[in-house]
Amino acid sequence: MNRRTTVLSASVALTAALALSGCSSDGSSDGSAAGSDGKPELKVSGAFMPQPVMDMAGGFLTIKNDSGTADKLTSVTSPISGDVQIHESKNQKMQQVKSFDIPANGKLDLERGGSHIMFMGLKTKPKQGDKVSIVLHFEKADPIKVDLPVEAATHNPKQQ
Ligand code: CU
Repeated sequence: MNRRTTVLSASVALTAALALSGCSSDGSSDGSAAGSDGKPELKVSGAFMPQPVMDMAGGFLTIKNDSGTADKLTSVTSPISGDVQIHESKNQKMQQVKSFDIPANGKLDLERGGSHIMFMGLKTKPKQGDKVSIVLHFEKADPIKVDLPVEAATHNPKQQ
C-alpha cells in the first residue's frame, strides 16, 4: 500500500519535469535574441566574387548576427573548389585562419583588402554574371547556402 503511493508520486514528478523541459525548449525556438542557449541568428548580405583572373578566386560578404549569442565562421564549401579557405590580411599579406569571430549583436565583414574567402585550385572559372554557390559553416548556427554573383574583376562596393 505504501509502495503504490511512492510509485504514483514518482510518476507525477516525472511528468512535471517533462512539462518543464518542454516549456524551456519552446522558449528558445521563438527566435528571441535573449535566449543564451538559442542558436545565433545570422544574415548574409552583399555577397560577391570578383571574376577570377587566375585559378583562384576571392569571395566577399557580410554576416550579421542579430542575436545575443556569438558564433564563428569555421569553414566554407563550394562545388567549384575542393579547397576553400578563409584568409585574413595583415601587412599586405594574407594568411589562412581556422575561424572568424561573429560577435553577438555584431557582424563579420569579409571585404576587399581585409578578411576574405579564398577558393584555391578552381575546377571551373566563373565569368561575370555567373553565380557561384557556397555553403557557410558555423560553430553554432546551421549552415547557410549563399549564391555569390560574379562581378567584374575590379568590383569593389566600398569604392563607388
Ligand atoms: Cu587569400
